[in-house]
Amino acid sequence: MMRLDKYLCETGFGTRSQVKALLKKGLVQVDGETVKRPELKIDEHRSQVTCAGTRAVYQEHVYLMMNKPQGVLSATEDRRQKTVLDLVEEKAADRLFPVGRLDKDTEGLLLLTDDGELAHALLSPKKHVDKVYEAEIQGQVGQEHVRRFAEGLDIGEKRPTLPAELEILSSGETSRVRVTIREGKFHQIKRMFLAVGCQVTALRRLSMGSLCLDEGLEPGAYRALSPEELERLKEHI
Ligand code: URA
Repeated sequence: MMRLDKYLCETGFGTRSQVKALLKKGLVQVDGETVKRPELKIDEHRSQVTCAGTRAVYQEHVYLMMNKPQGVLSATEDRRQKTVLDLVEEKAADRLFPVGRLDKDTEGLLLLTDDGELAHALLSPKKHVDKVYEAEIQGQVGQEHVRRFAEGLDIGEKRPTLPAELEILSSGETSRVRVTIREGKFHQIKRMFLAVGCQVTALRRLSMGSLCLDEGLEPGAYRALSPEELERLKEHI
């Protein structure tokens, strides 16, 4: 249960004083009845609340999809360097953390949330959530590399990497590839290419499980996940 004024603030209808004014004007309805008392306790999961005709949608957690730019750290804070959370202007920014890490020079899909349970499930090595990356590689990439990625590679860990899919988009002096991995070891893609004698010169994450990078997001921009995106992500894991 939650106070009505708090609920309206958390569902984006304004600050406490703005919300109080809306209540006073008789613009808020709970389960079809006009309510003016800010202190009224409602069930945030069941009550149907509208404000000036707009239905309030309550989410316990915040889920943001960011197109991480190069040059910022996937961390919550750092004394010297800019982090992805420095780019977020949400009220709840101080509760958020990135789900997994992308290297400073990697760009692309990064999920920011305050939902520890979802983050844990997405990162769990047991769940084998697919992560798809696009990479630029110095030198030629060929079928031998595809085979070796599929077999699993020794990158200096206890065990070889799990089978990964390597798709060659173009091959030449520099090559472009798409790689799907199902784990998330430190610098994994770069180390996998090093293991076959190649160097990654640019890396971008395109997806994580069912969640795909919104190509309309400029580097550094972010948006909330749609209810459908969130539902599919939760179903998937
Ligand atoms: N693999 C890498 O090498 N770097 C990343 O940022 C992500 C995957």
